[in-house]
Amino acid sequence: MAHINDNFTKLPGSYLFSEIGRRTAAYQEAHPEAKLIKMGIGDVTLPLAPAVVAAMHEGVDDLAAAETFHGYGPEQGYDFLRTAIAEADFRARGVEIDDDEIFVSDGAKSDCGNIGDILSLDSRVAVCDPVYPVYVDTNAMAGRAGDYDEDAQGWTNIVYMPTTAENDFCPALPEEDVDVIYLCSPNNPTGTALTFGQLKAWVDYANDHDAIIMFDAAYERFITQDDVPHSIYEIPGAKTCAIEFRSFSKTAGFTGARCGYTVVPKALVRDGASLNGLWNRRQTTKFNGASYVIQKGAAAVYTPEGARQIDEAIAHYRENARVIREGLTEAGFEVFGGVNSPYIWCKTPGGMGSWDFFNKLLEEANIITTPGAGFGPAGEGYIRFTAFGNAEATKEAMKRVQALKA
Ligand code: MLT
Repeated sequence: MAHINDNFTKLPGSYLFSEIGRRTAAYQEAHPEAKLIKMGIGDVTLPLAPAVVAAMHEGVDDLAAAETFHGYGPEQGYDFLRTAIAEADFRARGVEIDDDEIFVSDGAKSDCGNIGDILSLDSRVAVCDPVYPVYVDTNAMAGRAGDYDEDAQGWTNIVYMPTTAENDFCPALPEEDVDVIYLCSPNNPTGTALTFGQLKAWVDYANDHDAIIMFDAAYERFITQDDVPHSIYEIPGAKTCAIEFRSFSKTAGFTGARCGYTVVPKALVRDGASLNGLWNRRQTTKFNGASYVIQKGAAAVYTPEGARQIDEAIAHYRENARVIREGLTEAGFEVFGGVNSPYIWCKTPGGMGSWDFFNKLLEEANIITTPGAGFGPAGEGYIRFTAFGNAEATKEAMKRVQALKA
């Protein structure tokens, strides 16, 4: 008799963003006249940059002719993209990353979830609280999380590190030994970012404890402040303790096209094995590479024209973030983030629960947000707004929030 992976039965409810999608659809069906403004899942709304689209068209044309046709590509990504990434995202910033330390994929979410394949099942995992749920749920599926404790709203074997206004959104170093630490900066969901000094403390900790940092830098392109590193490898010593995840989703509007990459330095060695080699073995076995057409499009992000067009899109979302931050502040809310990030983390009024405030915004203002509690116990009492909408809808949303009755 076949048995299922019992860890799946321990997972509470559905995946956060599926649940929000379900509630949104149900509300819209019951209220077809409601003009909903979506500020929940961080999904982009601007179309792909023209340079990216042109490159994708070229890619399709290549596939249409025998002389330029491409079948299976390299599982690690095409050299033209790996080199462009290593050059522009790292070497141009003074960070020595080799092309073969870059692994192109169909997105950072997959890589963040799959990376656990190369780690021991008894690794002790630490996450920030609140946290992007993928880090937690995928470790729970693998059996590393223990059991879900309803009362604590958390997993018995996961170390939750409160990341709140009280500690300036930089978690304290854990008192107990941990093996794998997930950090996301600029942070999802709080919209805050770690400075060089804050991140250095983590790199030093990881090297001292032979731990590994899983550094999610999906929102790197939103950084505006000089004291915030764009890559963990800007911190000396990070190559011996960190894996970094990057995404073209928020950077270049690829949420539907799907492309991202992971950096696994060759200097990262545990139990005598290079994690670069292990990840390469994993990818060559389980993954056949991102599509040629999509990688052609991603490479256009690094052309002067593509880079300029992408900067324009980011500027549009940044302006939305400013409108949200200022709009919420004017309405009397306490807000965080939104300066180096497309996310604004907002305290609910009068200590209201975050799902209650989610419902109030949905029903009284027709705005979809993401309740902080969905990101972990310390997210209770907060709500997340995203800046990925269009400018008009974002301004309209702030008017509706300001008109809300207490
Ligand atoms: C979010 O809203 O947190 C993100 O869009 C989710 C994701 O990138 O998977």
